[in-house]
Formats: sequence, structure tokens, C-alpha cells
Amino acid sequence: MAAPTRIALIGCGFYAQNHLAAWRDLVPEGAELVAVCDTDPAKAAAAAAISRVPAYTDAAAMLADLAPDLVDIVTRVETHRALAEIAVRHARGVIVQKPFAPTAEDARAIVDAAARAGVWLAVHENFRFQPPLRRAIDLVEAGRIGPPSWARLHFRTGFDVYRTQPYFLTETRLCIADVGVHILDLARRILGEVTHLTAEIQQRNPRLVGEDTATMLLRHENGAVSVVECTYEARREPDPFPETLLQVEGPIGAIIVNAGGGIELTEGGAMTRLAPGYAFAPWMDPRWGISQAGCLEACRHYLARFRAGRDAETSGKDNLRTLALVEAAYASAASLGPMRPSPV
Ligand SMILES: NC(=O)c1ccc[n+]([C@@H]2O[C@H](COP(=O)([O-])OP(=O)(O)OC[C@H]3O[C@@H](n4cnc5c(N)ncnc54)[C@H](O)[C@@H]3O)[C@@H](O)[C@H]2O)c1
Repeated sequence: MAAPTRIALIGCGFYAQNHLAAWRDLVPEGAELVAVCDTDPAKAAAAAAISRVPAYTDAAAMLADLAPDLVDIVTRVETHRALAEIAVRHARGVIVQKPFAPTAEDARAIVDAAARAGVWLAVHENFRFQPPLRRAIDLVEAGRIGPPSWARLHFRTGFDVYRTQPYFLTETRLCIADVGVHILDLARRILGEVTHLTAEIQQRNPRLVGEDTATMLLRHENGAVSVVECTYEARREPDPFPETLLQVEGPIGAIIVNAGGGIELTEGGAMTRLAPGYAFAPWMDPRWGISQAGCLEACRHYLARFRAGRDAETSGKDNLRTLALVEAAYASAASLGPMRPSPV
């Protein structure tokens, strides 16, 4: 049997709790968490106690001590480049949480540093791994609706995200950089690369510094058009948080992903309702289990691909294209016109 993959995790805050649980679930598939690190000693100690591994407060010291196979970076975006540049010197693989980096230049620098060191690199971009969205992707790829030519992808909520992520209140770039990045990535995954896009942004909540709402219109290279929407200021009940809902149309059918994970599949003029075909793990909270399930499935994908010596779907290089859409969206909103994503 192949040796376990020794994983060191950096950043033990809010979202890392899902990574810790995911790596525990993935032990039978070859994951072995060997240490955790947080500059906040209390957070490092708490994560270490749950996972029964040593706690560190200095990432460089942890990596020098342990030389893990894989480093999982779950800190906030402004720290990703410095930590990734340390990690590529000590490990064979590195996973960086989304958003990959604050600027295209930093993201490119991480990709280049990994390439120079011969290190496998993935971005933890997990929405495309959420079970209902992955099922929709699989249906599209199986040709059930023909080549998709139009889609609407939307994340609309009024859930108090500022309670769990208080740093959102002061972000100058908020909704597109935080959640729009996921939906843009999903649009790329379903409809292919983008030639140009237009974005309108709004700040509907006066407490914020950045935008809380974005409405984007994308033209894809294959001629398809998609509407990508995200907001933290929708006042609608039932609130589907944290689900991304989807409608995608092709010449012979349509796929609609509804709240709760059910899918309406129309093919050949008849509609079939597909019940949600997944169950949450015991550690997941049914209120936001879909995000946790996406995290677990993303970690499962990264582990399997790393162990097989294959690139992740969301490799560092691939994610440069998603980040280019984020940059194009902000540029479009500022210039009041369509923008082409920068070539990568
Ligand atoms: N994929 C998703 O669905 C999803 C959801 C939420 C957050 N995220 C992403 O996860 C990342 C973390 O977000 P969060 O909400 O958990 O933030 P957080 O602030 O709760 O946690 C970050 C942790 O990193 C620690 N840290 C900072 N610098 C460090 C360093 N140099 N070495 C070790 N530890 C360090 C901090 O002390 C903190 O505990 C962000 O990039 C965020 O966008 C992703």
C-alpha cells in the first residue's frame, strides 16, 4: 500500500476547521495530517488538540522540522504569496486557499516559484466540487443538453457573513474577490474560457467599504453567454445561503440546480426531477453543509491528484484564468464598459 501523504496545515481560523475535518475523513484515502500552524497560539493549540498533532506558531519552523509532502495554506489572501514561497522550498506539493493572491502579479509569482522548484500547486477553489454543481457539470459533460450556450449562475443571500468573517467589513474589494471568484470559476468550468465581460457593482450596505453586489455578463469563446450574480444583500426567504443556484441551457435541454440540491433536467422535451444524491458527513452542519461538502470533495480531489502525480483541475496555472476574470470585472465596473481578461 502506498505511504500516506504527510500534510501540514497553515492557518487555523474560521474556514480551516473544514479542512481539518476533511483531512480526518480522508485518512483512508491516504491523508495524514502531521502538524498545524497559526501565528495565534490559541488557535494553533485548539486545532492541534482536535487533530492530535503538534502545534506551531511559525510556518517556516514547522516546514523545516517536518518536510511534509503537502502544505495546505488556509490563511487570508494577503499572506498567500509569502507562505507559498516558503512552502515550495520544503514540500513536494502546495494547496493555497482562494482567492489565490491579491494581485495577478502575486499569483504569477507563486506559480513561477512552484514551477522553478518542481512543486505541484493547486488552488483550493471548491464551489465546482459542491455535489449538486459537480452533478450539473457531469450532466453537461455527458452531453445531456448538448453544448451549453447560455447560463445564469447566482449566489444571492442576506446571511450575516460579517459575523463569521468580520474582516469583510473593511475589504476594499469584497463581493467579487470573495465569492464572485468562485462563481466566475464555475462559469469557466461549465461554459469555457471568456472573451470579454461587463460588470456592474453596488454597495447596498452602507457599513461596508467594498462592493456587496455584482452583476456580470460574460461572453465565452464558444459563443455562449452567461450571467453571473453575487450579493450579500438579498433579502429573500427562504434564503438559500450558502448555495449557488444554476440554470444552464443547451440546444436539446436545460439543467436547473435548485435550492436544496435538487436538479430539474430537461432533455428531449421532458423534465425529470433528480433528488439530491448526496449526504452530509456527521461533522457538517446542515445549515452550511454544502460548503463543507465542497471543501471535503475539493480536498479529496487534491489528495488523489497529488498522489497520482497529476495536475489538479484547479491548478495554480488554471486559477490564473479565474483571477483574470476577477480583475476584468473590477476593471469593467470602474470603466463602465466591457473588458477582456488579460491573457495568462
Ligand atoms: N472556499 C471557501 O468556501 C471559503 C470560505 C471561507 C473562507 N475562505 C478563504 O479561507 C481563507 C481564510 O479565511 P478565514 O475566514 O478562515 O480567515 P481567518 O482570519 O478566520 O483565519 C486565518 C488564520 O490564519 C492565521 N494566520 C495569518 N497569518 C499567518 C501566518 N503567517 N502563519 C500562520 N497562520 C497565520 C490567522 O491567525 C488566522 O487564525 C481566506 O483566503 C478565505 O477567502 C474560503
